[in-house]
Amino acid sequence: MSGQSPDLEADVAEVLLSEEQIRAKVVELGRQISVDYLAGELTLVSVLKGSLPFMADLMRQITVPLRIDLMEVSSYGGLSTESSGLVRILKDLSSSIDGRDVLLVEDIIDTGLTLNYLLRYLRGKNPRSLKICALLDKPARRLVDIPIDYTGFTIPDQFVVGYGLDYGELYRNLRYVGVLRPSVYETA
Ligand code: IMP
Repeated sequence: MSGQSPDLEADVAEVLLSEEQIRAKVVELGRQISVDYLAGELTLVSVLKGSLPFMADLMRQITVPLRIDLMEVSSYGGLSTESSGLVRILKDLSSSIDGRDVLLVEDIIDTGLTLNYLLRYLRGKNPRSLKICALLDKPARRLVDIPIDYTGFTIPDQFVVGYGLDYGELYRNLRYVGVLRPSVYETA
């Protein structure tokens, strides 16, 4: 059993990014992406499940024509707060991205191992261009150096939940990004 309480908020030590801060940043990112892709037709590829709220909010702040596609990946390792780097594709793209301008929409880049895997996979599908938009960047633990084209927030090396991010599949429905109390995963 984990130490998760029925009151999700009680497990959050500190609100790192408020709903308002996230909203403002998503508007800013959407504006920049709309300018940068003015000439083209964009395909947003989001990675379930953590990127779901970010994708849903970001796509509505982009004003150029776009398509969306969804992948789902899982890192081996269950409840752990550590990324293993071994990635399994649970859901593949639904449509071809051959010749398309693709923007990969990610929730958080931690070690970079998941992103590294995904980039190699997507490059193999011959997109015309491939860029990355990540809401959160946790550079302290980076193992693979990957330039991120659009970053929402750079955050310290803490395990965060909310706005799509989970621990043990919970906390995704919090409207903010908060630091999870270590006691929650230490007792897991
Ligand atoms: P990476 O492969 O280490 O970059 O990890 C990427 C994935 O690990 C993310 O898409 C998240 O699913 C998960 N992850 C990394 N850090 C956190 C965190 O602080 N909270 C929740 N999930 C995280």
